[in-house]
Amino acid sequence: MRRKLAAGNWKMNGLAASLKELAALAQAITADDQTGILICPPAPLLYRASEAAKGTGISIGAQDCHGDADGAYTGDISAAMIADTGATHVIVGHSERREAHHEDDAEVRGKARAAHACDLTAIICIGETEAEREAGNTLDILAGQLAGSCPDNATAANTVIAYEPIWAIGTGRVPTLEQIVEVHDHLRAKLIARFGDEGHAMRLLYGGSVKPDNAATIFKADNVDGALVGGASLKATDFAPIITAL
Ligand code: G3H
Repeated sequence: MRRKLAAGNWKMNGLAASLKELAALAQAITADDQTGILICPPAPLLYRASEAAKGTGISIGAQDCHGDADGAYTGDISAAMIADTGATHVIVGHSERREAHHEDDAEVRGKARAAHACDLTAIICIGETEAEREAGNTLDILAGQLAGSCPDNATAANTVIAYEPIWAIGTGRVPTLEQIVEVHDHLRAKLIARFGDEGHAMRLLYGGSVKPDNAATIFKADNVDGALVGGASLKATDFAPIITAL
């Protein structure tokens, strides 16, 4: 039985005042053994978010980390710095970073490894473009990204995979349930082939325009163990019903 995970990625949204949403979420939802709740605010809010989340059962994660432990990388943050704020997770390889910062699978794998070295859980994102889907290449593209982005030491405890079709992010467009099932079953088979029991236990999240009104349908798929939510995670009033649907 895999523990569900509802992860909110605030992206480049939110100031200190936004942390009131954590308290509102904690009031609306009780984190329990079945469902984990994670909020990934922008880096400047990580410490305050970790403090604000104490005692609520909500975990805090970062949106990216560098692959090296330290060094002359102006503007970057290391996994150790993230852990030092009290955060426990980090998203790596989000398509917005793969595109805008030219991150490839090898770099994403290095980031995941850096996260693991600091006892952070890495949420490794993969996803196809619309052109790749239309060309019928979705499963091959995803298998390649999964193989290349996952380090060999990945376990169910230190790694979560998030499938985010790029064409579904922030667009209001969502794959059909059949398409989600096809992808998640495929990814599960790949994970089991490579990691055995750990691959069976690893969480697989769906991300891309998850909203209160479509969450229950998406969560019907056996191999969907939760969601990585962008826009609808910014307000507790939107995120709470998604968590409840899990
Ligand atoms: O990390 C979250 C995803 O990119 C999904 O974003 O829910 O705004 O489509 P969205």
